[in-house]
Amino acid sequence: MRIDKFLTETGTCSRSEAGKAVRRGEVLLNGKAVRSASDQINPEVDRLVFRGEEIIYRKFTYILLNKPEGVVSATEDGDVTVIDLLPEQLQRLSLFPCGRLDKYTVGFVLLTNNGPLSHRLLSPKHHVEKCYRFTARSPLSDEDIAKLEAGVDIGGYFTAPCKVEREGEGDYYRITLTEGKYHQIKRMLEAVDNKITFLERISFAGIELPADLPRGEWRFLTPEEIALLESHAV
Ligand code: URA
Repeated sequence: MRIDKFLTETGTCSRSEAGKAVRRGEVLLNGKAVRSASDQINPEVDRLVFRGEEIIYRKFTYILLNKPEGVVSATEDGDVTVIDLLPEQLQRLSLFPCGRLDKYTVGFVLLTNNGPLSHRLLSPKHHVEKCYRFTARSPLSDEDIAKLEAGVDIGGYFTAPCKVEREGEGDYYRITLTEGKYHQIKRMLEAVDNKITFLERISFAGIELPADLPRGEWRFLTPEEIALLESHAV
């Protein structure tokens, strides 16, 4: 692989910056200054240092973002998107959200550029769990909960069985789905004559939204979390 390709694919810099950095002697391959951005690197064995920092090659990138309200789960839109919340070098990596949250929904969004894995995680066949907490306009009765759990008609589609729990004695509920239809939870609540007033995704595929990750902030998934994602979609 060319060194400039390596640097752009790892989100280190743009192709033109790679050329400039090489000319300034700021790129070292196995301890020696690189002479041309078109020189080859074998990411499996070679060590590349860019401006004093070792760059680790990852074929794919996985980011956990705590989406704030008002931000759109898309790559491009007239409004602020989840991609706009990332630093510039990560915006170059063709990341996209694995599944969509509505504009008003907050919480866990997985951003990746691994298309096949994302596709598998979203396929209903794999029953990947997504857990949300929510508040509703009116309290849910035991009967409402039983109906939601069994499946409700959301306009010609009957939702698959799911789990709904009260969160302690307060106003919050949790719902765990293994599918993701358009506006699903909003429409499920409407099917029991109620309305969502707050919706937060708190886990995806067994990975929890970290309590110490503020809204609008992100972090890379850990190798253990990536392995967990892969184990869900085989
Ligand atoms: N269901 C909804 O209604 N909205 C979301 O954002 C996610 C699930």
